[in-house]
Amino acid sequence: MASAQWPCLILALFSVLVASGFPRSHARLLEKRSLLEGEVNGIDVYSTKISCKVTSRFAHNVVTTRAVNRADTAKEVSFDVELPKTAFITNFTLTIDGVTYPGNVKEKEVAKKQYEKAVSQGKTAGLVKASGRKLEKFTVSVNVAAGSKITFELTYEELLKRHKGKYEMYLKVQPKQLVKHFEIEADIFEPQGISTLDAEASFITNDLLGSALTKSFSGKKGHVSFKPSLDQQRSCPTCTESLLNGDFTITYDVNRESPANVQIVNGYFVHFFAPQGLPTVPKNVVFVIDISGSMHGRKMEQTKDALLKILDDVKEEDYLNFILFSGDVITWKDNLVQATPENIQEARTFVRNIQDQGMTNINDGLLRGISMLNKAREEHRVPERSTSIIIMLTDGDANTGESRPPKIQENVRNAIGGKFPLYNLGFGDNLNFNFLESMALENHGIARRIYEDSDANLQLQGFYEEVANPLLTSVEVEYPENAILDLTKNTYQHFYDGSEIVVAGRLVDKDMNNFKADVKGHGAINDLTFTEEVDMMEMEKALQKQDYIFGNYIERLWAYLTIEQLLEKRKNALGDEKENLTAQALDLSLKYHFVTPLTSMVVTKPEDNENQMAIADKPGEGGHGDSALSSFASTDSYQSPLTPYYYVDGDPHFIIQVPEKDDAICFNIDEEPGTVLSLIEDPITGFTVNGQIIGDKRGSPNSETRKTYFGKLGIANTQMDFWIEVTTEKITLWNAAAQSTFSWLDTVTVTQDGLSVTINRKKNIVVSFGDGVTFVVVLHQVWKKHPVHQDFLGFYVVDSHRMSAQTHGLLGQFFHPFDFKVSDIHSGSDPAKPHATMVVKNHRLTVTRGSQKDYRKDVSIGTKVDCWFVHNNGQGLIDGVHSDYIVPDLF
Ligand SMILES: *[C@@H]1O[C@H](CO)[C@@H](O)[C@H](O)[C@H]1NC(C)=O
Ligand SMILES: *[C@@H]1O[C@H](CO)[C@@H](O)[C@H](O)[C@H]1NC(C)=O
Repeated sequence: MASAQWPCLILALFSVLVASGFPRSHARLLEKRSLLEGEVNGIDVYSTKISCKVTSRFAHNVVTTRAVNRADTAKEVSFDVELPKTAFITNFTLTIDGVTYPGNVKEKEVAKKQYEKAVSQGKTAGLVKASGRKLEKFTVSVNVAAGSKITFELTYEELLKRHKGKYEMYLKVQPKQLVKHFEIEADIFEPQGISTLDAEASFITNDLLGSALTKSFSGKKGHVSFKPSLDQQRSCPTCTESLLNGDFTITYDVNRESPANVQIVNGYFVHFFAPQGLPTVPKNVVFVIDISGSMHGRKMEQTKDALLKILDDVKEEDYLNFILFSGDVITWKDNLVQATPENIQEARTFVRNIQDQGMTNINDGLLRGISMLNKAREEHRVPERSTSIIIMLTDGDANTGESRPPKIQENVRNAIGGKFPLYNLGFGDNLNFNFLESMALENHGIARRIYEDSDANLQLQGFYEEVANPLLTSVEVEYPENAILDLTKNTYQHFYDGSEIVVAGRLVDKDMNNFKADVKGHGAINDLTFTEEVDMMEMEKALQKQDYIFGNYIERLWAYLTIEQLLEKRKNALGDEKENLTAQALDLSLKYHFVTPLTSMVVTKPEDNENQMAIADKPGEGGHGDSALSSFASTDSYQSPLTPYYYVDGDPHFIIQVPEKDDAICFNIDEEPGTVLSLIEDPITGFTVNGQIIGDKRGSPNSETRKTYFGKLGIANTQMDFWIEVTTEKITLWNAAAQSTFSWLDTVTVTQDGLSVTINRKKNIVVSFGDGVTFVVVLHQVWKKHPVHQDFLGFYVVDSHRMSAQTHGLLGQFFHPFDFKVSDIHSGSDPAKPHATMVVKNHRLTVTRGSQKDYRKDVSIGTKVDCWFVHNNGQGLIDGVHSDYIVPDLF
C-alpha cells in the first residue's frame, strides 16, 4: 500500500524563544499535553491516550495518537502536544502502516544540519516552541497516503517539584474533534505513601464528569483515569464539537510523618527531604520595586495590589522595607523596621501613594536594598537568627545610572557576597530575562516571570507565599565520605515550607548494607541535624515488590537532575568551565536520551540513516533548572551513656540505683489514669519533669489488676524558657513563643545554647542541658491491634549532677546521696523473692527482693536490674505520701 510519502518532520525547536530568555516555570510543574488534531476532511483521529507513570515524583508520560486517512487522496495529519517547559522529551516515534520510525537523540549541531537538509528538500518540519506560561508545544505534520494509518507516540519525563505543599501534574487537553477512544491514565507510586490526590479539568466541573473521571489512592499507590465517552465529549447533546479543551490537573502529596525518604536502586540513590512542624525563621525582607514610567497603568495597580496583600500576610516578627527605583531611588524608611501593626499600617499608606515616574535605575535600587540588609545585620537591628531576602521587581531594562548588565551583576554579586538570596521578578515581556535570571542564580535565588495578565497580582503574591516561610537556613546534606559519587546539589540557603529538597547520587559500592545521610540546618530557634539511615536489604525487598514501577527510575531521576543543574550552572560559566559543563550535560543527554537545549531528536526511516525525518529539540535555554526552593535537616544517634541511676518505666516502676551500695531500690505508684505526677522539681535550676498516667485499653477499674503507664511527659526549664512535651505519638518543643513538632519517625538533633534534643526514630529521645543534666525518654510500642496494651513511655535520668540539693519529686528527691540498710533477709512465699527489713530515712520497712528492667539500651528485651521493692506506693521511702506528688498539669 502506498505508504506515506516520506514526510519529513522536524520538530525542531528553535531558538525562537531564546531571545527573551524564556520563562522558567519555576513554580510549577506542569505537564500538559494537548493532543491531536485530526482536523477535518477525511482524517479520523480515533484514539488518543495519555499514559502517566509517576514513581517517586519522577513522571514518565507517553502520549499516543492514532489516525487513519479515510479520504481518497493523501492528506496532512498533524500532531500537537503541549508539555511542561521543565520536561525533557525522551522519545518520539511514528508508525505508518505498521512500519515504525524510531527517534534518536543527537547533538544539536548534527541534527540541525539534517534538519536544514530536510527543509531544503521541501520536507515538512516540525517545531517545538514555547506556548503560554508553562508549556512548550511540540507540533509535527505528516503527509499520509489515502487509506493509511498513522500512530504518533511522544514520551517525555520530568521530576515533579513540590510547591506550596503539593506536586502538580498539568496536562493540556485539546483534541479539537471527538475521539472515539480518549483516555488519560495516571499511575502514581510513592514509597512514602500518598496522603492526598485530586484531579480536575478546567473545562468541566467534576460533577458533570461523572463516571468519566475516577481517582483513588491507597497506601503507596494512586490512580486517576479520565475516559469520556463520545457523548460526554460533545459540547452539547447534538454537537460534534469537543468540550475537551483546557487543563487536566492532577495534584497529590505524600505522607510527611518522616522528614526524609531515601530510595536506592541499582547503585543510584535519591534523598527527599521536607521536614514539617518547624517554626518559621523570622525574615528581613527588602522589596526593590521598579516604579519607572513603563509601569504606568495596570502594572502599577497590580503591583500595589499585590504588595498590599503581601502586607496582610507579613508576620509580626519579620522586618521589612520598600525601595522604589526609577531614575532616582526612594526609600520608605532609612532602616528595616519591624512589621508591627503600626508599621504595617504606615506601609499600606506608603504603597497606596506610589506614583510611577521616570527611567529605570536597577543598579542603584538593588545596591541600596543590599546595603540596607547588610547594615541591619552589622548593627544588630534585626534578630540574630533571622534570615534576609531581597525581592526585586522590574518590567524593563536598566536605562539610567549603571545600565550595563554585566557591570550591574558584578556590583550586586560583590555587595551581597553570598550572604542572602536575591529573587528577581520580571514583569511582562519587555525585558532581558536572561540577565535577571543570571543575576538571581549567581546570588542563590531564582528569577520568575510575571505574565502581564489579569492575574498578575496573584502571581506576585503567589511568589511571595513560596518564600514567606523559611523553616531552615544554610542547609547542607552530608553523606559518608568516599561512599558517594556524582552528587547533585546538596547545599541550599533556605528550605521553605511546602517545598522539598531532592538530592541524588551514585554509590561507590553498590553492595553496601547501610546508608546514612545527615541534613544540617539552622532553624528559627535552634540548629537541627536530621539523620536518615537506610537498611539496604529491607529497601530492596520493599521496592522489588513493585513491578509496575519502571526499574531504572532513580538513575533517570539522577540524570535529569544532574543535567538540569549543569545547564543552570552553565548559564553563569565562562570559557573552559562553560565548555566542560556543556560537555558533561551533552554526554548525559545523549546517554539518557533526553532532548535538552543541547540535543535534538531525529526520527529516521529504519535502515536508512540518510533519510531523516523529524527532529525535536528544546527551545532555547530557559526552560530548566528550578533550584529547589527547599531544604533539609538531620541527626546523630545518641551515644549510649553510663548506666542510669534513676528511672521510671513499665507499670510505673520507679528504680533508684544507689551506687555506693551497688544495689537498687524500687517501688510502684498506683494512680488513676489521667493523674499527673511530679518526677523532678528543682527550684534552683528551674527544671521540672512531670508525667501523666494512662491505663490500658480495657480501662479496668480494679486497681489490683490494672496496669498503668506513663503516656505523656513534660520536661521544662522555666529559666531557659523551654518546654518539651513527649507523647507516644509526637514530640513538641516550645522555646519562648516558637513551637516545633516532631514525630517518633524522625531522627533529628535540635541544638541551641547548650541544650540538645535528639530523637532516635522509634526508640528514644535524649535531652541534654549542657554538661550535668541528661534525660532519656524511651518509647515502648506495642502491636497496634493489641487488645489490651497501648504504647507508653519510660523516663531515665542519665546525668543529674548539676541539679541542686533542693531537687524534689518522685525521682528528684533521690538525687542527693542517701543511705539504707537491709537486714534480716528471710524467704517468703516465693523462694525467688526473699523478704527483708530495710532502714531508710529513719523508717523501718519490710521489703521484697525483685527485679525490674532497664529498657534504655534495648527496648524489646531490656536489661535485668535487681532491687529491693518497697510496698504501698513507696510509703516510708519517699518523703510524705505518694498523693503529695500529684500536680494539676504537665507544666
Ligand atoms: C521509543 O519508543 C519506541 C516505541 O514505543 C520503542 O520501541 C523504543 O524502544 C523507544 N526508544 C527508547 C530509547 O526508549
Ligand atoms: C570536566 O572537568 C573535570 C575536572 O575539572 C574533569 O574531570 C572532567 O573529565 C571534565 N569533563 C569533561 C566532559 O570534559
